[in-house]
Amino acid sequence: MRTDRSRALEPFLAMEIMERAFELEAAGARVVHLEIGEPEFPAPACVVEACERALRDGQTHYTDSRGLGALREAIAEDCQRRSGVAPDPAQIMVTAGTSPAMLLVFSLLVDRGDEVVMATPHYPCYPNFIRHCGGEPVLVPTRAEDGFALDPDAVRAALTPRTRAIVVASPANPTGAIHDRETLEALAQLGPPLVSDEIYDGLVYDGAETTSVMGISDEAFVLDGFSKRYAMTGFRLGWVVAPEWSLRALQTMQQNFFISANHFVQHAGIAALKGGAPAAEHLRRACARRRGRLVDGLRNLGFGIPRSPEGAFYVLADARRFGSDSRTLASALLERAHVGTTPGIDFGAAAEGMLRFCYAVSEEALDEALARLAEVLPALEAQAQNTIEGET
Ligand SMILES: Cc1ncc(COP(=O)(O)O)c(C=O)c1O
Repeated sequence: MRTDRSRALEPFLAMEIMERAFELEAAGARVVHLEIGEPEFPAPACVVEACERALRDGQTHYTDSRGLGALREAIAEDCQRRSGVAPDPAQIMVTAGTSPAMLLVFSLLVDRGDEVVMATPHYPCYPNFIRHCGGEPVLVPTRAEDGFALDPDAVRAALTPRTRAIVVASPANPTGAIHDRETLEALAQLGPPLVSDEIYDGLVYDGAETTSVMGISDEAFVLDGFSKRYAMTGFRLGWVVAPEWSLRALQTMQQNFFISANHFVQHAGIAALKGGAPAAEHLRRACARRRGRLVDGLRNLGFGIPRSPEGAFYVLADARRFGSDSRTLASALLERAHVGTTPGIDFGAAAEGMLRFCYAVSEEALDEALARLAEVLPALEAQAQNTIEGET
């Protein structure tokens, strides 16, 4: 009965772990959530107030499918502030999160048999969107030693006549990789349009420079949203800046599939862009401190982290000494220690044997997670050792 299209999708394991954690919590457990990519911080007060006000003022209807004019203008100004380049608000389509924008863009670009090139380890959903559209993801390996950045020569070697796009992300999930301007320019010159996921833009540490493809390529699709920088995951609000030729097609899909993003949430988005900068900077600074705490703590426990991630809010750590199957390991940590982590396999075969930890949580939560891990890891390590000896 099921379509091939629906069969092509893999479950999103970070969500699977979170949903199992919710079951444990419903049964009374106290879980530390390091599995899901969301800041534990509250949304900025000005955002909550704007949303409440909008609800009271009756801003509860459909809007223009492309988003409120005032929001699209505020997004254009925000792009100007962050990247120095202001798109025409007409190039901006507001969506209910970055995820729907991804669906629209890949639906626009990918037909059956087409290919889309991306780094691996990668955000789990990219290949699923592409397969859903009948295409094939083409994975270009990256290395921890190089900060997991894409090598433009390796991308060039992966191009075929069927390549429809190159996905870039800077900073990237799960690796925290940052691509410098030179690399982005080299990637933009390869021919296929860039689909640039900039949802972690600005979440950088150690003086690393944030990089956008805005101004590097007029043909790029820039995906972005409010979830990460402003701790607004549950508001579900994002956008895409798209080339002129694609706008009418994107609008048509949005009208049919989603009609529009939530009306009152769009007002929350305007408030975030106008007044949320101090809260966003507070979040970034807190993440910078927590990153060091988590990296040190995990290294002390025996996880392999060759280089501290420079952006986003994740640590992708080598966990093979505790178990080679990351799904089994993450599940054991959740069930035995009530610590949620994301199995590396969620991010592709290249990340098997790794676990991803999110550090956008309180320092108390990080310390609690590390203490609980310290209790269960020795037994898991002994078990993993026995398995290896049994196999040899
Ligand atoms: C790289 C990346 N892109 C997009 C998303 C989804 O974002 P949104 O909440 O805006 O749909 C996530 C969420 O984890 C992400 O990590």
